[in-house]
Amino acid sequence: MDKFIVLGEKKLKGIISVSGSKNAGLPIMAASLLADGHYILKNVPDIIDIRTMAKLLRILGAKVEFENHELKINTENCSYYEAPYDLVKTMRASIYVLGPLLARFGKAKVSFPGGCALGARPINLHLQGLQKLGANIEIEHGYIYATAKKLNGTEVIFEKKSVGATTNILMASVLVDGITILRNVACEPEINSLANFLNKMGAKIEGIGTDCLTISGVKNLHPADVTLIPDRIETGTLLLAAAITKGNINVKNCCPMDLGIVLEKLKEIGFSIETENDSIKISGKAKNPIEISTNPYPAFPTDLQAPFAALLSTVKGISIIDENIFSDRFMYISELQRLGADIKLDKNRIVIHGGTKLTGAPLMASDIRAAAALVIAALASEGKTEISRVYHLDRGYERLESKLAQLGADIERIED
Ligand code: EPZ
Repeated sequence: MDKFIVLGEKKLKGIISVSGSKNAGLPIMAASLLADGHYILKNVPDIIDIRTMAKLLRILGAKVEFENHELKINTENCSYYEAPYDLVKTMRASIYVLGPLLARFGKAKVSFPGGCALGARPINLHLQGLQKLGANIEIEHGYIYATAKKLNGTEVIFEKKSVGATTNILMASVLVDGITILRNVACEPEINSLANFLNKMGAKIEGIGTDCLTISGVKNLHPADVTLIPDRIETGTLLLAAAITKGNINVKNCCPMDLGIVLEKLKEIGFSIETENDSIKISGKAKNPIEISTNPYPAFPTDLQAPFAALLSTVKGISIIDENIFSDRFMYISELQRLGADIKLDKNRIVIHGGTKLTGAPLMASDIRAAAALVIAALASEGKTEISRVYHLDRGYERLESKLAQLGADIERIED
């Protein structure tokens, strides 16, 4: 298992490119199960989660090749419809094959994803949505068995906005008989990119970008090619890495529009942000503590909650973060405290007394974004920080350490 060794207090400077989006790539890969044939996905990040989804598609009978950020998928021989426990337990997004398999084969058997490092993560909205479309769902021996002779258009009103449930039900709806209306859907850019891809495959989805999608079912879909959108969370992570070192970087090949509130918060702290069509420059210093509240897009993303906490622990004054998406996304706090951060947790709120001196220490990562937060904090810490379990980071970031080193960070990956 790899570790990072970081020698902190180096200012980041220079230009860096963002990779394609993990959370856009995973559902699009699952969508390839909806029609037989050859797909080419470009700008695909070379990260563990993408490789796990590729493995799952292979188990289902697809041929998948991955080279130079290009993923070739051939779904001509897919006839298997079971997503096994061993894979689902390593990546919850495996549940994304449930909707497409059901729509395509009328049956799916997918391991029930358990809890995870972010707290309870139920899938009731996925299952209720599928039942509303006419599926029969049974849970046995840790597996979801979904079957349907025929799925029919209907209206689904999601109790709360869920990226995963919207993704699954959208994919299940495109081939049904009749019209489906999905209300209170998640509007994350990754959902829009999936909906656009499905339309490219021949689906008829209207209302993309709003919280109501109308899907007119079609009889058949056909394969399509796509270039993945830039990863907005990696973009934010790189900006925060520069910010905490009082650096000055230009992040290229990103989509500033997808980071609205994040850029506003960085400005509120005191950083100078300049955007162009597909790039963001950050410079300046932190001056003000801030308050953040995570909520579904376009509000502040939960995936940048931990990385922001790392930055705010170095900003003088009291900052407050409310986490409203996941029940327990604070496992990183005790690690930041080891560096000297003053953070107190009260239910879903953390209060950060910022500005304490951070000094390097051995740390352990607990999930993708917690790992990113530890890396960011290490960049500002005096001396050496050793971060173990960086496989969490590798699930979602392509060689983050190389990108940071390119910008002047002293960070090294070592095999433990
Ligand atoms: C997606 O997870 C992302 N994963 C997460 O990214 C991200 O943190 C999250 O959306 C929120 O933006 C992928 O895109 C692969 P949700 P997802 O369903 O779909 C509750 C990362 O680090 N809920 O939008 O699982 C749920 O408990 C990750 O890249 C139900 O109650 O999130 C949560 O409180 C981690 N019932 C809220 O909804 C359900 O059936 C939002 O979760 C489904 C969800």
